[in-house]
Amino acid sequence: MPTVSTAPGKVYLFGEHAVVYGEPAVPCAVERRATVTVEPRADGNVRVRAEDLSLDGFTVEYDAGTAGPAVDAPTDLLEAATGYVDEAVAQAREAADAADAGFDVEVESEIPLGAGLGSSAAVVVAAIDAATRSLGEPLEPVELADRAFRAEYTVQDGQASRADTFASTMGGAVRVEGDDCRRIDAPALPFVVGFDGGAGDTGKLVAGVRALREEHGFAADTVAAIGDLVREGERVLADAPAGEPADEATLEALGGLMDFDHGLLSALGVSARSLDSMVWAAREAGATGAKLTGAGGGGCIVALDPTDATETALAYTPACEEAFRAELATEGVRRIE
Ligand code: MEV
Repeated sequence: MPTVSTAPGKVYLFGEHAVVYGEPAVPCAVERRATVTVEPRADGNVRVRAEDLSLDGFTVEYDAGTAGPAVDAPTDLLEAATGYVDEAVAQAREAADAADAGFDVEVESEIPLGAGLGSSAAVVVAAIDAATRSLGEPLEPVELADRAFRAEYTVQDGQASRADTFASTMGGAVRVEGDDCRRIDAPALPFVVGFDGGAGDTGKLVAGVRALREEHGFAADTVAAIGDLVREGERVLADAPAGEPADEATLEALGGLMDFDHGLLSALGVSARSLDSMVWAAREAGATGAKLTGAGGGGCIVALDPTDATETALAYTPACEEAFRAELATEGVRRIE
């Protein structure tokens, strides 16, 4: 019998990169999901089939631990995608004390790879959940989030925070500061996402910020300033009625902080011309604020706008390949079968 789990992607309201150094961050799960189907295999092998890992869509089939798939897609991205599935399988085997367990794993995702929407975290969370259930050892959400973090941490060479995997497991708006992860109350926020069709290399981008931070005191101060603005953003969120559409004053306050955050992330070298151009298109269309989301380098921006103006403006922006409204995913990992 197959087991099927889905897990959502996320946008960062604020705090990416600085969260790696212990500053708080507020990622919000959004309704774009990765779905992972797992069936046990008697021969102990792991076979992975993945579709739609980028918006172009491609299929890979390979045996885990072998040379990897031969498909026409950027090698870095594919290596990353298959690496995440391999680590998720390793975590599931360890959790269920079943080192020789074999699986057929099928991954389908609506979340573009490496684009700042937490595709890898969603795949890892859904894969560990489906695989442990297939072994008769379902995990509680806190352990699932922890094991998913460990899988990401391994693939990203120790340069990962708990933010993406915790948001994907728990759903909703969350707050992450070091090992302290919790769901927080938040108003309903009108997120609009712009996607440039590209991707950034999370490992390289995180390493770049680390190097700047070690070299210059002012870069370390920039990271600390992101932490300060996140704390201010948390106060704005706490003052707004939870679950109700955010009022104009709340959107202005949060938007102003998002704009500031984007400026600081740009100073740390993780923006890109395409991201800046989408951010400006959103602001000029009347978004109360806009910023890159995730590791940067390419991929997505997130803006706040309760009207259709930002989505329309992004759709006409040459740098933008796809614009869409992203609803908060109040449910994290979901067990389908
Ligand atoms: C990537 O989605 C977010 C970063 O902060 C890295 C991390 O938190 O693991 C850049």
